[in-house]
Amino acid sequence: MTTTHTITVEPLGREVTCREDQSILDACLRSGVWLPHSCTHGTCGTCKAEVLDGEVDHGAASSFALMDYERDEGRLLPCVATPRSDVVVEAEVDVDESVVVHPVEDFTASVVELDDIALDTRRLVVELDRDITFNPGQYLKFQVPAGDGGPAVDRTWSIASPPSSTRRLEFHVRRVPGGRGTDGWVFGGLAVGDRVAVSGPYGRFVLRPEDERHAILVGGGTGVAPLASMVRHALEDDGYAGRLTLYAGARTRAQLYDVEAFRALEAAHPDRFTYRPCLSEEGPEDVGADAAGFGFGLVTDVIAADHATLSGCAGYLCGPPPMVEAALKTLMSKRLFPRDIHREDFFTEGDKATGGVRSPLIKR
Ligand SMILES: Cc1cc2nc3c(=O)[nH]c(=O)nc-3n(C[C@H](O)[C@H](O)[C@H](O)COP(=O)(O)OP(=O)(O)OC[C@H]3O[C@@H](n4cnc5c(N)ncnc54)[C@H](O)[C@@H]3O)c2cc1C
Ligand code: FES
Repeated sequence: MTTTHTITVEPLGREVTCREDQSILDACLRSGVWLPHSCTHGTCGTCKAEVLDGEVDHGAASSFALMDYERDEGRLLPCVATPRSDVVVEAEVDVDESVVVHPVEDFTASVVELDDIALDTRRLVVELDRDITFNPGQYLKFQVPAGDGGPAVDRTWSIASPPSSTRRLEFHVRRVPGGRGTDGWVFGGLAVGDRVAVSGPYGRFVLRPEDERHAILVGGGTGVAPLASMVRHALEDDGYAGRLTLYAGARTRAQLYDVEAFRALEAAHPDRFTYRPCLSEEGPEDVGADAAGFGFGLVTDVIAADHATLSGCAGYLCGPPPMVEAALKTLMSKRLFPRDIHREDFFTEGDKATGGVRSPLIKR
């Protein structure tokens, strides 16, 4: 039988039971105790907390996200740390009362659609074995089965469908050359009809329901996925009263997807939603008759040209860490403050080795 320990989370004073092979964050989220987190694989540092008492194994914590001196001072990353005794941790539990906390659960999912939607990009649609509740912007973890590439691993992909669809969930997955979960699985052996193990929902990159400011949504590549969930939710049942502008950045037209679907939403909600696809490596001549509404240049340059100021708006940035970092700077140069900006960096296992890109300006 697996040994379990008691985790006491301060300043909440809540106690949860955690297996010795389970991360402290996982035990908390499954018990409905919310701790801040983003990547859930020891890379971003969002979940950093303090051990007040007890022993932990730091697991796969990146040496950039949790430095040696921090380990010596008793810090930990609950998303990868496992207990070796009963543990008391103190976390920055900055609960946003307007966001509903949905406990993490395990599901079995059947693959019902798997289609190429753009260059090196697939739409994966799964049907869960039962209903799930989540906030628009959250993500699931998929268990990539053990195979030639090594043991089973978890990979995280953001839900692109709105929370009203409680069983049938959509994901947008970009191929990473040599990646276990993408190249080796979603673009490898995965097929319609396969059953896969998933868990969730995770993450705090969510559309704030009580915030009615103009939302500037900026997605690079498949970073559009959680933003698509937010847009669909906001427009379909008054899930968000504010206006939304979606900037979808890609290098070439071949890498952009769902252009017609977003245009249809824009046509149906002209006072609420604006769609701005942006191409950094192609011009109007490459897009042809379809070019109306396109921005040409880096998505950050298009945003800068579109707005004299973004004062009074809220920012939601998602995608590869360098793009998120650049978009953060652009939004701040247009008079948004860090507290007005939410971000989701698509950190990969590779970022764990290099430290990724971190801004001291904003809390994840
Ligand atoms: C919160 C969140 C949400 C995300 N949502 C999405 C989404 O909706 N869509 C999407 O496409 N992606 C998303 N991602 C990224 C996704 O989780 C995966 O990282 C991505 O799909 C690559 O997975 P992979 O298994 O194919 O690659 P991996 O096997 O993880 O490899 C990725 C890269 O890291 C290198 N690498 C692997 N292991 C190591 C190592 N030990 N040391 C050094 N380098 C290494 C590989 O060579 C490769 O270049 C999200 C990430 C996060 C954190
Ligand atoms: S959530 Fe723990 S390091 Fe990212």
